[in-house]
Amino acid sequence: MRELAGRTAFVTGGASGIGLALGHAFARAGMKVMLADIEAEALTAAVKRLRGSGPDVRGVCCDVADPVSVERAAAASFEAFGHVHVVCNNAGVGGGSGIDNISVDNWRWVLDVNLMGVVHGIRSFLPHIRAHGEGGHIVNTASMAGMNSGLGFSPYSASKFAVVNMSEGLAMQLAPLGIGVTVLCPGFVRTRIWESGRNRPERYGPSQSPDPASDAGKLAANLAELGRSGLDPCDVAAQVVGAMRENELYVFTHSGADWRAELEARFGAILAAMDKAAAR
Ligand code: NAI
Repeated sequence: MRELAGRTAFVTGGASGIGLALGHAFARAGMKVMLADIEAEALTAAVKRLRGSGPDVRGVCCDVADPVSVERAAAASFEAFGHVHVVCNNAGVGGGSGIDNISVDNWRWVLDVNLMGVVHGIRSFLPHIRAHGEGGHIVNTASMAGMNSGLGFSPYSASKFAVVNMSEGLAMQLAPLGIGVTVLCPGFVRTRIWESGRNRPERYGPSQSPDPASDAGKLAANLAELGRSGLDPCDVAAQVVGAMRENELYVFTHSGADWRAELEARFGAILAAMDKAAAR
């Protein structure tokens, strides 16, 4: 989608971090923007902050884990702006630890937001984008955790692997319709993802954090520290806008040798197993 000015974007998780930066970048590119988020106060502040950056910025409260809530947010966007062209399924939460001690509630929360939130966004907006026929672009936020399994947070990684896979399939299916797909795979970005528990609905029970003295606890602290010194979300948003204009499927925000080595090791192991199958 080369021309963004005059188009409309819907961004989930728009009240903070990467979603807020995406909203800002879109507004500056001349797009109308609907920010959607579960955190009402932060959403109001985000809309206030972005107003004046672009033609029209609005907000809608939305829990992406709830299909009815996403349907309502979509209806509010159509009513406010008419056609929506860009949908960023970006809302996400971090949670979990080692696979043997994660509560079922924790699995449900992380998968409901990070995976089903993307599914609900696609279900609510894709028929509309197809119907208006003006083209569009879907951006799904995954993670480097969707590319390699080393992180040690099973629900998070599982949700992000699924988002990568779903996006790859979607890109193939939608290319003939002139609808682009980008899957965003950030490394560490300076956001509030490490405070995800602030938006955990009661229905999922209390937040579960690993014991700080355990291996999982130390890993969580280490990752949070890396997050604090991570990339500026505005840099991530600029990369996404570039990928949308060039219709690129993957955005990797980090190019470090460690990330590359982990990916090479994973792909190498997969290819070696396939070679073994071929030799049988
Ligand atoms: P953030 O915590 O700053 O922003 C996430 C936003 O999602 C918040 O505004 C939060 O209120 C919203 N949210 C949470 N649950 C929601 C729900 N049920 N419905 C609607 N909105 C909800 O974190 P960040 O980093 O900006 O997260 C955005 C995406 O980036 C997430 O999908 C995350 O997994 C992904 N990501 C972040 C990385 C990082 O280092 N910050 C690295 C890789 C991926």
